[in-house]
Amino acid sequence: MPEKIIDINSIRHIFSDGYIGIKDISLSIHKGEFIILAGKNGSGKSTLLRHLNGLLLPDSGTILVNGHDVSKHLVQTRKTIGMVFQDADTQIVGDTVFDEVAFGLENLKIKRDKINEKVTQVLEDLNLSHLRQRNPSTLSGGEKRKLAIAGILVMDPQVIAFDEPFSNLDYPGTLQVLSTIIDLNQSGHTIIIATHDVEPIICEATRIIIMENGQIKKDGTPDTLIMHLESFGVREPCSSKFGLGLVPWPT
Ligand SMILES: Nc1ncnc2c1ncn2[C@@H]1O[C@H](COP(=O)(O)OP(=O)(O)O)[C@@H](O)[C@H]1O
Ligand SMILES: [Mg+2]
Repeated sequence: MPEKIIDINSIRHIFSDGYIGIKDISLSIHKGEFIILAGKNGSGKSTLLRHLNGLLLPDSGTILVNGHDVSKHLVQTRKTIGMVFQDADTQIVGDTVFDEVAFGLENLKIKRDKINEKVTQVLEDLNLSHLRQRNPSTLSGGEKRKLAIAGILVMDPQVIAFDEPFSNLDYPGTLQVLSTIIDLNQSGHTIIIATHDVEPIICEATRIIIMENGQIKKDGTPDTLIMHLESFGVREPCSSKFGLGLVPWPT
């Protein structure tokens, strides 16, 4: 078994209005896994993701990242686990694609030469080099989402968590982001994708975790859980519905 990166032990999260966002979740995530966190709207996916890098802290239970308690090691945790948010497009701060990707490194006061080298490499890895001088606001939806991924990747995370990475993307945009995520997993990153629509990625995943009402209801491989998706309000992929099994998207 590959080494454990994330270890969640009986966490519970109660929002300030008393609503219990996470009831009782325990979960281990290992290096190299490609995990889909599935569930209908309101099932608690985003709430769980936000606990992984300490944006939310549990009211009880613990989360260990590489053996360290997240609540006591926020900086280290956020280096290890990069988070690509659903509304990443609205968080753009740079005037150019290059500056946008450099932003996180500049905050760490890293030397200019090193920043230039790292940003150039990440833009190349994600096929964004030709856009380096473009204003981020002029990018397509898929390019913007890739830019958000570049801003995370440049920080060298071990795990990259995505919250609804395909939302509001057209088909080409979805394929661009999908192939980027697949490449990231193949280059050794552990991937966690929270989504209410598993269709584009189900073939790539090694594991699906189905959530409902702030709890994990199922945890297993895509082929064993696919027929359970709809009972938790998640659409079963068309290919599987029509008896063709799991058919990968063309990336
Ligand atoms: N700040 C908050 N205060 C109270 N309830 C919240 C808050 N944030 C989320 N919730 C509730 O927690 C539940 C889970 O939300 P969320 O994690 O966003 O679900 P998902 O990402 O699966 O759609 C929802 O019922 C939502 O209304
Ligand atoms: Mg959500």
